[in-house]
Amino acid sequence: MTTDNKNPASPAAQRAFEGKVVLVTGASTGIGRATAIAFANAGARLILGDIDKRSADTAAAIVAAGGQAQFVPTDVSDPESVRALVDAAVQTYGRLDAAFNNAGLLPPTADFADMSVEDFDRTIAVDLRGVFLCLKYEIGAMLKTGGGAIVNTASVAGVVADPGMASYVAAKHGVVGLTKAAALDYATRNIRVNAVAPGLVATPMTNRWLDDPGFAAKLMQNSPIGRAAQPEEIAGTVLHLCSSAASFTTGQTFVVDGGQTAH
Ligand SMILES: NC(=O)c1ccc[n+]([C@@H]2O[C@H](COP(=O)([O-])OP(=O)(O)OC[C@H]3O[C@@H](n4cnc5c(N)ncnc54)[C@H](O)[C@@H]3O)[C@@H](O)[C@H]2O)c1
Repeated sequence: MTTDNKNPASPAAQRAFEGKVVLVTGASTGIGRATAIAFANAGARLILGDIDKRSADTAAAIVAAGGQAQFVPTDVSDPESVRALVDAAVQTYGRLDAAFNNAGLLPPTADFADMSVEDFDRTIAVDLRGVFLCLKYEIGAMLKTGGGAIVNTASVAGVVADPGMASYVAAKHGVVGLTKAAALDYATRNIRVNAVAPGLVATPMTNRWLDDPGFAAKLMQNSPIGRAAQPEEIAGTVLHLCSSAASFTTGQTFVVDGGQTAH
């Protein structure tokens, strides 16, 4: 038997999430969209929260394929907005079983002293406070129905620093910390909290890098596997961490980076 490492077998094929209610933020494009579709293919019923209305297209694609999905316009940096998103999941489907807190933004690259305070604050508001708010309200809902599993999107920038990205590095290191803290608080109450830390993934967030041949070649020098990931290659890890196959795994950050941080 051979293994095609570019096309990992999807746990979706196993319908491991049949009937489960899964919340995904940032599902208009990229990693969030691919993961929402993977959850739907595995039988889950989806609530999608996003500031970008193109998440409605993701929901429509899931419904067109025979699944269930609803889009709720959401700004993850706003407590009331996140509370309304979680409430919508419970009102629509009666419970919340799993969540993928993935919405995020990448600020302009700048050396530390040149970084604007506004960019720093916005990055922390969306990439860190957004994950805190999602955890807070999702955990509240899960406690009422006996537990659940949550995955936060960190980054390799949550494990090591990249130059020119101080606010993003701080936010993503914070996501790793929130993941550990939440996991400890709820370990005995059947709520598992983990994070995924992708390396370079080909999404709208990184188009500006990958579309520049010179810069892309420089990035590939840091990639033992020699390419960027496709979003679907991150989705598999998220589904695994939310599944019963990961029932003893909590508080961990899983680096999915083609070997980038193995140096
Ligand atoms: N692409 C990469 O190389 C890479 C690497 C590591 C980590 N990540 C992380 O993966 C996550 C997804 O990024 P992506 O690469 O798929 O990019 P993307 O731009 O395709 O997706 C980001 C999503 O977040 C949403 N979003 C942004 N601000 C929001 C807000 N305030 N409220 C609600 N939704 C908001 C966007 O609308 C979009 O749907 C992010 O957290 C990002 O930091 C990406």
